Formats: sequence, C-alpha cells, structure tokens
Amino acid sequence: MINVAILGFGTVGSGVAEVLTGHERSIAQKTDDLVKLKYILDVRDFPDSPFAGCFVKDFARIESDPEVDIVVETIGGATVALDFTRRALEAGKSVVSSNKELVATHGYELTQLAREKGVCYLFEASVGGGIPILRPLSQCLAANEILEICGILNGTTNYILTRMIKAGLSFEQALKEAQDKGYAERDPSADVEGHDACRKICILSAIAFGRHIYPDQVPTEGIAKVTLADVDYADGAGKKIKLLGRAIREGDGRVCAYVAPHLVDSAHPLAGVEGVFNAISVRGDAIGEVMFYGQGAGKLPTASAVVADVMDIARNLGHRKALCWAPGGADAACGTRALKSRWYVRANAGAEQLRDALGEVKLLARSGAPGGEAACLSEAQLTQEELSGKLAGLDVCAAIRVLN
Ligand code: HSE
Repeated sequence: MINVAILGFGTVGSGVAEVLTGHERSIAQKTDDLVKLKYILDVRDFPDSPFAGCFVKDFARIESDPEVDIVVETIGGATVALDFTRRALEAGKSVVSSNKELVATHGYELTQLAREKGVCYLFEASVGGGIPILRPLSQCLAANEILEICGILNGTTNYILTRMIKAGLSFEQALKEAQDKGYAERDPSADVEGHDACRKICILSAIAFGRHIYPDQVPTEGIAKVTLADVDYADGAGKKIKLLGRAIREGDGRVCAYVAPHLVDSAHPLAGVEGVFNAISVRGDAIGEVMFYGQGAGKLPTASAVVADVMDIARNLGHRKALCWAPGGADAACGTRALKSRWYVRANAGAEQLRDALGEVKLLARSGAPGGEAACLSEAQLTQEELSGKLAGLDVCAAIRVLN
C-alpha cells in the first residue's frame, strides 16, 4: 500500500482528494498497488468533509510517519510550501506539486534535493493545469533540440481578452466577470500582470533548454493596459490580442524568455484558443511544431495532472524519477533587447506622423475612433529600443508586438 498526504485543502487539494479516493479502484489496477489518502494538512477545520478523519494541523505528523510515501503540495506560494517540500524530501518522501511559484523560484534546488535523496519531485500540474506538457516535453520530445515555446499560459487573462474581443466588454468589466465566475482571484494581479504566465514560461524553459531561468530574468508585461480600441484595431487587421509566454533559444544557447500581449493572426492556432483554455506550441528541430491544448486551470483538470504524477511515482516506487536541469545564472537568459518584431502602434497623432516615424506601415481603422488618433502595424521588424527611438516625441498610447 502507498500512502499519500495532501498539504493544503484548497481548490486543487480538495480535487486531488476527490480524484484519488473516487478513482481508488482504477488507480490500484493501473499502479498494481493500493494508493491511499492518509493525511490532509490544513490549518482550517472541515468537520463535514467526507475526508474529516484525515485532517491534521501539524506537518511533523506527516514528516515523521514512515508510512507516508508521497506528499502532494497544493499550498501555493514559496514560503511554507518551500519549507514543507524541503522537509518532505529530506525525510525521503517523494513530492508532487502544482505550485508554479515554488518550482519557478526554487525548482533547481528542489530537484537536486530529490536527486540526492533518491526520491521523486514531479510537478506536471504547475504548467497548463490538466494539459500534459512537462512530461511530453521532457520525454516524448527529448530527441529534439527545442527551438521555441510559445503559449497562452494563463486562463484568467485569456478569458478576459476573449470577453473583450467577443462581447466588447472593457478590461474592468471582463475582469469583474472573471472574478464573479471564480476564475480570477480577488487580488488578480498575479494573473493580470503576467506573473503567473512568467512562472510557467520559466519552468517550460528549464525543461526545454536545460538551465534554470528565474522569474526576474523574464521581462513581463500583463494585459491591464489593453483597451477595447486596441482590440478593435487588431480585429480590423485580422488579428486577435493574446497574452503569450515565449521562450526562444538563441544561437549562443541563451534563452530569450518573456511575457507580453501580442497581436496574433486570426488564422494562427493560438488565436482560436478562447476562454479559460490554454495552449502551448513547441517547435523542435525534428518534430517541427506541436501544440498542446486544454483546460489550464480548475479543480479537477489540475487534480488530473497531480494524481497522474502520484500514480507515476507509485508505479516506480524506489526508482528516482525527477525532472532536472542545470543551475541558472546571469548568462542563462538574455532578455528581449535583441528581439525584433513588427509592432502595432496606437498614438494621439496623425497617420502621416506614424508613417514619418516608422516608414512603411499598414494603417488601421476602427469605427468611432476619435479625431487625432491613428493606429498602424509597422512593416519593419524592430527591437523595442529601435521602436522607442523612432516614436520619440509622439504621444504613444499603445505599442504591442505582432507575432510573426
Ligand atoms: N490563475 C491561473 C490561471 C491558474 O488563470 O491560469 C492556473 O495556474
């Protein structure tokens, strides 16, 4: 019998308890062992929960119980979760996590610790929720040199942008709707400002390119400044605005990773990804392009990925199974300084002023545009610095990269 302890009985933790117990028989058949939920750690009381008998408040109970083989960490954050993960690994227990903040900031250290202790540290659910992506990237695509990863990595912001595009809601209205539906947190900043997507592109980069990339090495811009005017101009150009996390392997081995809104051509597969869905496109030198699509968040989709990791460990108990990569460093990432794109620009200016500044442009139109506003797509591929230089002196309202 394999015993599991869940840390944190929030949305994901409770989903894991449900799937683990609800599918007990089929899990046993597939793993050739009985996988039992023994403990749930939470500071709160849940007297009416069907799992009421499992609750403990002291992590030491789990840490010191030799019968616990696998600890599932669904606490979130990088403080208590870090302490408990270290202690569980030190105690010789395998750990499964859905915590992208922890993996993005301490993943190198924790994978090393798991390696030293001969146990597993798996975190499939930390990127793309229920979408299988980390295992396919590290195993099925292992023969490739990965050239680029580009994806819609955050469901909340994709929902907000979809509602702006399809229903004409303002950013504030769409955010409020996302909060009412339980997609966005009351403090939505991690999603809206791009930090959640940033953590996910860090994890993807580490697995794809082999070195730890820290969130502070990834220029990150969210969607709070995207307006309906931009959505309309993009529509007129046959494009949709999407928040993308991208990581590109440069010729010198460094990684250009960043998060920013982009104008994506309507015919591009990423443009069709709507609502809370996520999609991750991976380009490898042998496979070409491959895309992963599905529910990137939510109780049961995320639990699906967590429990699959638990089962993977249960099947291979006694064998180390950890994703790992080399340490990070200043030379691992190169920012976006050299990254050239076409740009969408909206300014309080005349069309001629935009043309004078940017050279050849495609002018855009939208109904109800106020006089004195102009928008265009640059024909030239420019770095952000080159663009800023050319636009100096203009009253620029928006500048968004166009996905090539
Ligand atoms: N807040 C995240 C999202 C949850 O909206 O995608 C999954 O990481």
